[in-house]
Amino acid sequence: MEKIKLAGIGCGNRTNVYMNLASKLMPPKFDITALADPIKERRDIISSYQQGNRIKHFDSAMSFLSEEKLADVVIIGTQDDYHFKPAMEAMEKGYDLILEKPISNNLEEVLILAKRAAELNRRVIICHVLRYTPIYNKIKEILKSGIVGETVSLNATEGVGAWHQTHSFVRGKWSDTGKSSPMILAKSCHDMDIIFWLVGQKCISISSFGELSHFCSINAPEGAPKRCTDGCPIADSCQYNALLYLTERRNPWLEAVFDTEKSRLDEGGASDSEIIQWLKTSPWGRCVYDCDNDAVDHQVVNFKFEKGITATFTMTAFDEGRNIEIFGTKGTLKGGEFIKKVTGHDLIFYDNRNGIVQYWDIEFDPDGNASHGGGDSGFVQSLYNELKMDNPADMKSSIQISVESHVMAWAAEESRRTNRVINLLEYREQTLDKSS
Ligand SMILES: NC(=O)c1ccc[n+]([C@@H]2O[C@H](COP(=O)([O-])OP(=O)(O)OC[C@H]3O[C@@H](n4cnc5c(N)ncnc54)[C@H](O)[C@@H]3O)[C@@H](O)[C@H]2O)c1
Repeated sequence: MEKIKLAGIGCGNRTNVYMNLASKLMPPKFDITALADPIKERRDIISSYQQGNRIKHFDSAMSFLSEEKLADVVIIGTQDDYHFKPAMEAMEKGYDLILEKPISNNLEEVLILAKRAAELNRRVIICHVLRYTPIYNKIKEILKSGIVGETVSLNATEGVGAWHQTHSFVRGKWSDTGKSSPMILAKSCHDMDIIFWLVGQKCISISSFGELSHFCSINAPEGAPKRCTDGCPIADSCQYNALLYLTERRNPWLEAVFDTEKSRLDEGGASDSEIIQWLKTSPWGRCVYDCDNDAVDHQVVNFKFEKGITATFTMTAFDEGRNIEIFGTKGTLKGGEFIKKVTGHDLIFYDNRNGIVQYWDIEFDPDGNASHGGGDSGFVQSLYNELKMDNPADMKSSIQISVESHVMAWAAEESRRTNRVINLLEYREQTLDKSS
C-alpha cells in the first residue's frame, strides 16, 4: 500500500489527536513528513509518534509553505481566524487538505475556499467528525431502510456540558467570538452538518434566539476573587473551581491546554505546584464569572428545509451530550445520551402502527479514540480511502458539502443578532455575490 505523506500546520490539540491516531493505523497508511508550529514542544510531541523517520520542522505555516512541496496532504489545525490564508496557499502549492472546522470564521472566505478547491481539483476534507461516528451512521442507515417512513420533522440537542463550556467558551479559546467564532459555528457547525446530512435537503429558512445568561459578572458569588488561586470563599462548593484542573479535570481538559514537554512526555506529568503556578497567569485560572467572554450559553434554532421538513436545535451549556428525535410518517426514532442513560440502548424506534419498539446498541472500536462519540477515530480511519477517491466530490465531508453547515450557522447567528427570520435562498445569493 502506497503511504500518503502527511504534514501538519498548527500542531495543537486537534492536529495532535489526528496525527496520534494516524500513526497507530495498521497497516501504516501515513508518513508524517513535516510539522509547522511556533511552539517547538508541540511539534516534538507529534514527532515522537513516528519512530525513525526524519520529520522536517518549521516555526510557522508560511515558512513551511515557502519550501518545496513536502507532503501530499496537509492538516490545517490552526485557530479559527487562521485557516483561510494557510489553506489557500497550501492548495495553490498543490496540497490536498484536511481542514479543521470552521472552514473559516468568515463566510465569504468559506465560499472562496470552496470555489478555489473546485477550480484546482484539490481534495479538501473538513473535520466534521460526527459524520464518522457509529451512532449517526446507524441513524442514516435506519432512515434509508424506510422503517421510519418519510422524515417529517427532527429535534436535536447539544449539551456542551458546564465544565466544557467554561473551559472552552468562558475561559478558553472560543470565549471571545470576535476573535474566534460564534458558538453556533465554533461548536454547533457539527450539529448543523448532521441535521443537513440526515434531512438530505437544503435549508431554506432559519430563525434563532440565544443569550449568555449565566457566565457573567452579575452571577459572581460575593467576595469571589478574579482567580481561583487567590482564595475564593466558595472554593469548596464551586463546580468551576480552577483548582479542579489538578484532580478530576486534569484529563482531558488540562492536558489539552497545559502541554509543555514535561506534562505530556514525562510519565508523572507536571507537579501540582507547577500547575498552580500556571493557573495564576493562564486564562484557565480565572473566575468564570469574571472573564471577557461573550459566547452564548444557550441557543435555539428553527429550520425549514426545501421539501417542507422542519427541524429544531437546542444548544445548552447545562446538559451533557447530544440527543436526537426523528419524527417519521411510520414512527419515531430517538437516540443519544439521554436515551442511553435511561434505557441502556443507543437508539430506540417506536412503530406507530403496531406499537412495537426496536432497540439498537452501537459498538465502539475498543482500540479507537472515543472522543466525539468515536468520530475522531472513525474520521482518521476513513481518511486514506477518501483521499484516494477519484472524484473529490464523492468524499463524505468535502468542502463543497460542508459549506452548507457554515451557511446555516451564519444565518442562524444573523437571525439571533438581528431578531429576524433569515431566508436562506436570499442569504446564500447575497454572500455568493460578495465572495465572487
Ligand atoms: N473537529 C472538531 O471537532 C474540533 C474540536 C475542537 C476544535 N476544533 C477546531 O480545530 C482548530 C484547532 O483547535 P485546537 O484546539 O487544536 O487549537 P490549538 O490552539 O490547540 O492549536 C492551534 C495551533 O496553531 C499554532 N499556530 C499559531 N500560529 C501559527 C502559525 N502562524 N503557523 C503554524 N502554527 C501556528 C499554535 O501555536 C497552536 O499550537 C480550531 O479551528 C478549532 O475550532 C475542531
